Amino acid sequence: MLLQGVRRVRRVQATVMLGTAHHWLPFTQMNAPEAHLRRFVRGEGSWLYDENGARVFDAVSSIWTTIHGHCHPRISEAIAKQAHVLDHATALGASNPVAESLAARLCALTGMQHAIFASDGASAVETAVKIALQYWQNIGQPRRTRIVRLNNSYHGDTVGAMSCSNIALFNERFAAITFETYELGSVDLASDDIAAVIVEPLVQAAAGMRTVSRHRYEMLAGMTPLLICDEIATGFGRTGTMFAFEQAPIRPDLLVLGKGITGGALALSATLATDRVYEAFLGEYLEFKHLFHGHSYAGNPIACAAALASLALFDEEHTIVASLSLSACIRRRLDSLRLHALVRDVRAVGTMVGIELHAERIEPRGSLTPAWRIADGLYRAGHFMRPIGDVIQFVPPLCSREEQIDAFFDALVAELGP
Ligand SMILES: Cc1ncc(COP(=O)(O)O)c(C=O)c1O
Repeated sequence: MLLQGVRRVRRVQATVMLGTAHHWLPFTQMNAPEAHLRRFVRGEGSWLYDENGARVFDAVSSIWTTIHGHCHPRISEAIAKQAHVLDHATALGASNPVAESLAARLCALTGMQHAIFASDGASAVETAVKIALQYWQNIGQPRRTRIVRLNNSYHGDTVGAMSCSNIALFNERFAAITFETYELGSVDLASDDIAAVIVEPLVQAAAGMRTVSRHRYEMLAGMTPLLICDEIATGFGRTGTMFAFEQAPIRPDLLVLGKGITGGALALSATLATDRVYEAFLGEYLEFKHLFHGHSYAGNPIACAAALASLALFDEEHTIVASLSLSACIRRRLDSLRLHALVRDVRAVGTMVGIELHAERIEPRGSLTPAWRIADGLYRAGHFMRPIGDVIQFVPPLCSREEQIDAFFDALVAELGP
């Protein structure tokens, strides 16, 4: 018995040593050696530290989440303080002051009037889509069920969010369970069966930082269906304004926020609505007009406290000004990169950058695609970047310093060669 116990303990220890043996990484081939190469044990500012003691620049803001830097003391302290007061209480039929303060603050910042919370971005997109459908039912137009989206759209990986997305590589395996959505421009927006149009303002991040011209949004002005703006990737200063929709000729009926909402520290997302939308859900209980959607951790006070601290930092650390000066620095570096023989296209809005490679001109190495080969070289040079297809993406934390931006581009140019 004792021996068995010892063996079991050894097995557990061996498993712990294996690292990713039990941790299944999203969008990652676990069979490839690369999947096991990067294990981060600490973060500070724009730096991540791996288990081998290497310090790398987080050139993708941990997939567009980190704003003020990792483990910002102001946010960490807000989290710790709130964790001692109220960790969680359901928002189903109950409220808490932290979620209320955050809802009010987000509404003041965006011009919206109501906020309902969830955890991940995709959940907030699901919320928005379901609000749109129920809105039309509540006001007596149940025929309105169709959703219109942009080409190359991406709104997340749950079934509803995926249905609103049209990046074939992500969706095609799941066609059997997604519903049909329609590309903007291919349907008449005056048609009485359209519930909502969902757009990413200015940048389609997951499509490889594709930029969408402001004119593309002009046809949305004054239309009848609801407009859902997905600012999960673009929100919180990345494009040079707090929200990208401020730079486009659009005003959302529903606004979806996530990722950077807590400064990148905790999972939190929000779907914001106007009075027009919200009021359609009011009525007598037995009319069942109230929203039939919600998540267990909606309005979690710890996550909301982190978000409030992050928003305070925007004022205290002048984050938007910092974002604008980082963009200017990035633009300078991109000008020369555009001329490089291995670069097919360069796209940028504010601090969201995609550098598309002429992949066919770059030798693959082993199982590594050309872009992953560059990513590996960058990692060795101290920069953590995950490519999107053939696109090198660069989305630095907004607290980054200009010398860190320069160091990334120096390393990229060195990796690409003359
Ligand atoms: C525009 C956009 N919408 C939605 C999502 C989904 O967010 P999450 O990964 O938090 O579910 C993403 C994620 O990258 C995104 O870029």
